[in-house]
Amino acid sequence: MIETMGNLRRTNYCGEVGMELAGQEMTVCGSIAKSRDKGGIIFADLRDTTGILQLVFDEDTPKDVFAKAESLRSEYVVICRGKLRERAAKTDKISTGSVELYVSELRILSEADTTPFEVRDEIQVKDELRLKYRYLDLRRPSMHEPIVIRSKICRVIRDFFYGNHFTEIETPDLIGSTPEGARDYVVPSRVQPGHFYALPQSPQLYKQILMLSGFDRYFQIARCFRDEDLRADRQPEFTQVDEEMSFMDEEDIMTLNEGLIQKLWKEILHVDVPTPFVRMPWDEAMDRFGSDKPDTRFGLEIQDVTALFKGTEFVPFKATIEAGGTIRAINAKGLADQLTRKTIDKLTETAKTYGAKGMAYTRLTADGVSSSFEKNLTDAEKDALHAALGAETGDVLLLVSDAKRVTACTALGQVRLDIGHRCGLIDADKFNFLWVVRFPLFEYSEEEGRFMAMHHPFTMPTDDSLDKVETDQGACYARAYDIVLNGIEMGGGSIRINNPALQDRMFKALGFTEERARKNFGYLMDAYKFGAPPHGGMAYGLDRMVMLMLKRDSIRDVIAFPKVQNASELMTGCPGELEPKQYQELHIAYVPDPE
Ligand code: AMO
Repeated sequence: MIETMGNLRRTNYCGEVGMELAGQEMTVCGSIAKSRDKGGIIFADLRDTTGILQLVFDEDTPKDVFAKAESLRSEYVVICRGKLRERAAKTDKISTGSVELYVSELRILSEADTTPFEVRDEIQVKDELRLKYRYLDLRRPSMHEPIVIRSKICRVIRDFFYGNHFTEIETPDLIGSTPEGARDYVVPSRVQPGHFYALPQSPQLYKQILMLSGFDRYFQIARCFRDEDLRADRQPEFTQVDEEMSFMDEEDIMTLNEGLIQKLWKEILHVDVPTPFVRMPWDEAMDRFGSDKPDTRFGLEIQDVTALFKGTEFVPFKATIEAGGTIRAINAKGLADQLTRKTIDKLTETAKTYGAKGMAYTRLTADGVSSSFEKNLTDAEKDALHAALGAETGDVLLLVSDAKRVTACTALGQVRLDIGHRCGLIDADKFNFLWVVRFPLFEYSEEEGRFMAMHHPFTMPTDDSLDKVETDQGACYARAYDIVLNGIEMGGGSIRINNPALQDRMFKALGFTEERARKNFGYLMDAYKFGAPPHGGMAYGLDRMVMLMLKRDSIRDVIAFPKVQNASELMTGCPGELEPKQYQELHIAYVPDPE
């Protein structure tokens, strides 16, 4: 029988009671996590958003209440009153394991069908089913908690910004489509046939305009939309902690943000984070770790061994050097037992996936040396290589040569990560923060056949790049910085161009005609003519930040209603088709791909 709450109202949350409240009468409500009838005594676990509390009914319980308790099934929603008492069989499995509620009044507010999977942790259920019944999945403590902590994280973030003179300002979600970023999500306009809005990939231009509007410091917890392929740390819609500030340089911004990180880690995780974080130039990150987001929780750094092979007759190395290329190496120290020939084959596949043509190896074991290439080297070359890498018995040397430094380093960087994971070299308890600074200003796109902005077109070049913007784009650097945690890019930003003449030069360097620059960014170019303070900012991926703080593997675990690989959301089934009338109103038609 379904009842109303009557005059019962919650006095306490399940997860917040303990021995200090023993002896008190209280009213709690929530869902039945499980119920056990031991004949004459019934135990039921009551779950609410804060935790679980054990309810008890026995022969002294009023008869009608006991009868109702007998009918309790998992996920029934109840409200009940009783006296909190010390629990005979204490448990530390739940936070309230030292107490229980001896119930005197019980009201069943909703019954529940058998759920498609059990609502408890440690279940083996396909992701698709969990996402289809996301509301059940979110009842499970391990899925529920991250969402609650995410909210606490947002509160700390807001506290920090409010305490540092920032103003929280919302920017529009229906904006114009701009070139240069990821693919836009677009929204057709009903009142302007053939015209489209785009959903923001970030509030970038609006926040710059807010600096020109005199707000001095802005922040926003902003939804962003990017039509790009999903990965464990990417969703088509995600949240940024977005900030912009005037009269600050990159050091000021990084220092301020270290304060935010310290506060968050302290208040949420009770962890002291030492500052300042290392500032590592992009070139160094690529050379040492083969990545612009190095995981510095373990060694296995990459070394440049090109010089050792200057006069070599070994054809692949010789050809690489003649083409102006590079030879990079890793010494997987003491890992020969784990890195068998078979494993090295797998690592070679990893290197190839990231653009390497192959990977040379040497295994130094107690049984002797096996190598894919050393027989082609002179003794002097071999000795020099071993000396440079500090090679000893038990080590594995891995080498990639390539005409392009970025390719050789990136491939080895991925091999390094692969080894780190396979061989258990990564200490999961560590939080290794790092600023990667001095990014290249431009990046050559083979697809577009031109240089593109690595960050975005409004990023200020470094002083030593100012005279090369038109003439030597490959040698220009940006006043940009990324914050990296444990090998994941958690956020990034830059100092912006606040000089209209320099912005003009940037657009030209990016291949914009004057007409196209005006069409896309005319309002911005005009805005900078009326007085622009120096400014810069950054944005964190909030989902990534929460994932990293909670040591989860996917941002899906920290988003209430995430999307799956094909960008659909399985509970509601979106995206869906429209009613024929809607297509008409929007002046659009669906034209299927002929293939
Ligand atoms: P950027 O494009 O580097 O910079 O984005 C900032 C941060 O947002 C997160 N992020 C994502 N998280 C989840 N899913 C995605 N698809 C996704 N894409 C990005 C990352 C990233 O570091 N406007 C600039 C910032 C600035 O210059 O102020 C920007 O958007 O954690």
